[in-house]
Amino acid sequence: MSDTLKIAVLGGDGTGPEVVAEALKVLKCIAGIEGFRYETQDFDYGGDRWLAQGKPEVVITDEQITELNQFDTILLGAVGHPDVTPGILEKGLLLRLRFKLDQYINLRPVKLYPGVECPLKDKGPDDVNFDVIRENTEDLYCGAGGFLRKHTANEIATQEMIATRFGVERCLRYAFDFTRRKKEAGQGGGMLTLVHKTNVLTFAADLWERAFHEIGKADYPDIKRDYNHVDACCMWFVKNPEFYDTIVVPNMFGDIITDLGAIIQGGMGIAAGGNINPDPGGTSMYEPIGGSAPKYTGQNVINPLAAIGALAMLLQNSGQKQAGDRVEEAIKSVTPKLKSLAAGRMGFSTTEVGDLVVKTLEA
Ligand code: IPM
Ligand code: MN
Repeated sequence: MSDTLKIAVLGGDGTGPEVVAEALKVLKCIAGIEGFRYETQDFDYGGDRWLAQGKPEVVITDEQITELNQFDTILLGAVGHPDVTPGILEKGLLLRLRFKLDQYINLRPVKLYPGVECPLKDKGPDDVNFDVIRENTEDLYCGAGGFLRKHTANEIATQEMIATRFGVERCLRYAFDFTRRKKEAGQGGGMLTLVHKTNVLTFAADLWERAFHEIGKADYPDIKRDYNHVDACCMWFVKNPEFYDTIVVPNMFGDIITDLGAIIQGGMGIAAGGNINPDPGGTSMYEPIGGSAPKYTGQNVINPLAAIGALAMLLQNSGQKQAGDRVEEAIKSVTPKLKSLAAGRMGFSTTEVGDLVVKTLEA
């Protein structure tokens, strides 16, 4: 990495470009305060471009992905267009980038910020404060499977859950290291919870469980190992979220439990995540977890805090930890000022919320 942070900006569809614009406003401000250099380049991959090009077979080509790979990091707005059949952009753009750039970690913090309404009775910021590390390149997301005798009464469809020792192990090691770093920083009690379904998925879950204990025992004796079935985990998210420190989970279950996580931290207006390739030279991609919210496009009502939170994560993981931490602190100062985190009900417009974060940083 040179001394200039090179960021590829993919605004994407719907409200994506609007929230990304606010994140870039915050970036400009924090870079001035912290004194680091950065460059951004915009890319218009998404539904509009794909439609304008006459629906090409591939949404983003290998060459275009290679170009993105030259950047230090990527900031993504949202993927999903009302005039495009669901699945085309999700698979052809978002999942393709995650796979091709080998972003094998999907880091999704679940943090309830001050003043944010939580749907859980009697739970506050101290209770809802944990991290989910979702494996991001395997499992049901590999697209392995197929049809036999399609469109007949005897049709068969299969969809395979793939777990490789290599893929599982690199994810587990990241999760153990992450849990340890938190413990050493005085955050969290040093407990890693594996979430799976060992009582039914006796092959894939067995590989995960064996690797979890082998690696934990050999290399992370300081980290407490805990296990939850995924269904029980959903129950605990609601009943006792304070129990969790760090969770490691395969792709599909991770997708599901992080939507539940997002809603207990205040919803899609605030939830951010990182698709991380932690290897040397790897290019990661940070995004608000929510979708493109097409019905709010261009109205200046969407909440940009999730995108600003994604920027905070981007900085924290791209050699600008202090800058990222400051942006996160600024978000925490702004959340109590909003009436709600929901689009159109914040008591402020999209750009005003961005301005509030900037003003807090400058204060
Ligand atoms: C997410 C999304 C994606 C996923 C979709 C849009 C393909 O739900 O980032 O969680 O399933 O991973
Ligand atoms: Mn999801």
